[in-house]
Amino acid sequence: MQSNQEAAGYEHNASELIAQHAMTAKLLGVDFLPLGNPGSVEVGSGYETAHETGLEEVQAAGRAPVDVDSQTNKPDLSPISAEELASSYQHLSNPHEKMQALARAYEEHAPHQYYHEQFHNIVFGEGDAGSDVMFVGEAPGEEEDRTGRPFVGRAGQLLEKMIVAMGLSRESVYISNVLKTRPPNNATPTQRETALCSPYLIEQIKIVQPRVVVTLGLPASQLLIKSTSPMRALRGHWHRLGCDGHEGLGEIEVMPTYHPAYLLRSYTPENRRKVWSDLTMVMEKLGLKSQ
Ligand code: URA
Repeated sequence: MQSNQEAAGYEHNASELIAQHAMTAKLLGVDFLPLGNPGSVEVGSGYETAHETGLEEVQAAGRAPVDVDSQTNKPDLSPISAEELASSYQHLSNPHEKMQALARAYEEHAPHQYYHEQFHNIVFGEGDAGSDVMFVGEAPGEEEDRTGRPFVGRAGQLLEKMIVAMGLSRESVYISNVLKTRPPNNATPTQRETALCSPYLIEQIKIVQPRVVVTLGLPASQLLIKSTSPMRALRGHWHRLGCDGHEGLGEIEVMPTYHPAYLLRSYTPENRRKVWSDLTMVMEKLGLKSQ
């Protein structure tokens, strides 16, 4: 005869198996097994994991999870479509209002919840949303995370000096990043983070419609030029924005240059000369005179 303990063990295993099966089915996009009330599932079961990882939210977002990230154990999500994002601001005419509407859409979708959530503030971007020039960095750092503003730490202060030296002001340009939230330990954006976040950056560029985008550092440069070349090959040359299927964006010119944080770490006359030479090319293109 089966002891009470054995029976309890079977029940536990059965519910675990059902929950695991349900999760696998959901991950494969086959949602045929009702999951029931999460409260009725034992701690440690597969369902609990599925719930914690945000699978429900993925489904609520109406987009299919395509995989599970082995490091974060969070469900992957197909990037949001340009059409869906554009619908959040298309009815507006003022670029500033469009940008605010897009920022609200970002907050609502919160793509960062599918990779990390250890941040304090979303740093969407700031400046003149109708500017001729846009600066794009990598991701917010500690000071940016604290304040919710891009490039306000040490690297930001150097960027501001660069902008002023070009005869511009911080308020007259638009400043943004590939990622809108600070990655833990300031890690370089992963492919997955970039894939989920870059649609928002592309829409930001569509709203601003700058003549020139200055990409700061490798992640932003490689993303916007669609290149795998190293920084030394990219900087100092004009590139076209690499955005297949986005009308009008291909006309925008991109100047990659070293990230100000790199420049702070390697503040050599040679690196300073290279960055200034890149910025001078931007100034010539925009008809600006240095200060
Ligand atoms: N570094 C970046 O790439 N972006 C910021 O906003 C700050 C530091």
